[in-house]
Amino acid sequence: MRALVRQTHLHPGDLVLPMFVSQSASEPMPIVSMPGVQQHSHDSLRRAAEQALQAGVGGLMVFGVPDQRDATGTGADDPEGVLNTALRNLRSDLGADTVIMADLCLDEFTDHGHCGVLGSDGGVDNDATLQRYAQMAVAQAAAGADVVAPSGMMDGQVRVIRGALDAVGRHDVSILAYTAKYASAFYGPFREAVDSTFTGNRSTYQQDIANRTEALRELRLDQAEGADMVMVKPALAYLDVLSDVARHSDLPVAAYHVSGEYAQIEAAAQRGWLDREATVLESLISIRRAGAHFILTYYAQYAAQLLNRRDSW
Ligand code: PBG
Repeated sequence: MRALVRQTHLHPGDLVLPMFVSQSASEPMPIVSMPGVQQHSHDSLRRAAEQALQAGVGGLMVFGVPDQRDATGTGADDPEGVLNTALRNLRSDLGADTVIMADLCLDEFTDHGHCGVLGSDGGVDNDATLQRYAQMAVAQAAAGADVVAPSGMMDGQVRVIRGALDAVGRHDVSILAYTAKYASAFYGPFREAVDSTFTGNRSTYQQDIANRTEALRELRLDQAEGADMVMVKPALAYLDVLSDVARHSDLPVAAYHVSGEYAQIEAAAQRGWLDREATVLESLISIRRAGAHFILTYYAQYAAQLLNRRDSW
């Protein structure tokens, strides 16, 4: 009876696995603040991607960890750069078997760790950054990304990326817009995951955690600029925002269950203070109930395996 009247369902195919690939790693390197998540080598990334697909996840989101960084993030659009190499490998291994998504941002590639290039006043130069994003999008499309995911929250990023892709005939590459991305402390463990050197804050480009309605303004802008999918991030602390965006969006809506959300559950589960399995599934169901069509989560493979063993959800 409960199954018959259940209003929210969760399937392995609703889950996208974020993965890290490191230029210098020769074997998977643990990320201390995210137990169970690794910085992969190129080879181990390929094996881990196959395993995630076998569990039935709906897609992969790839982040690169370069060993060289500079002011403009030249590694980001270098075809031989860590991320583009990984995308090419995954495309050649997996063909069209899954959706390959690429993080489109400069913070992993800049020596200062900001999501864009800096202007003469030391702040992020929005419009100069857009030119770098355009180059990155074209490089990621050439390397095999099905979806590029601009996560830098620069104004006009979707419009410029769409224009750059169309100009090289890549109408087929989709844009997953980080539409409402808040300046959140929950990204803490991610900084370790990408060896970030970043010390400042991103409040000049990410959203103020206290604000709700400006997410809808960001949604309108991203829709008008040509986004194919929109995302809210983080997830659990922003379910009100997610619900608003889902109600107003005629595009598919994603949510990012971020590194800090993962770390909270892991820290408690390791001590026996929370039941990992039940807490993970409740978190993901709640994100779906609030309106997400799909969820980026470091638990994607784990949850997919749990769901495969159940009759339904
Ligand atoms: C920026 C980016 C970040 C995350 C995804 N893309 C870090 C930031 O904005 O500071 C965080 C993801 C997570 O915490 O899991 N490229």
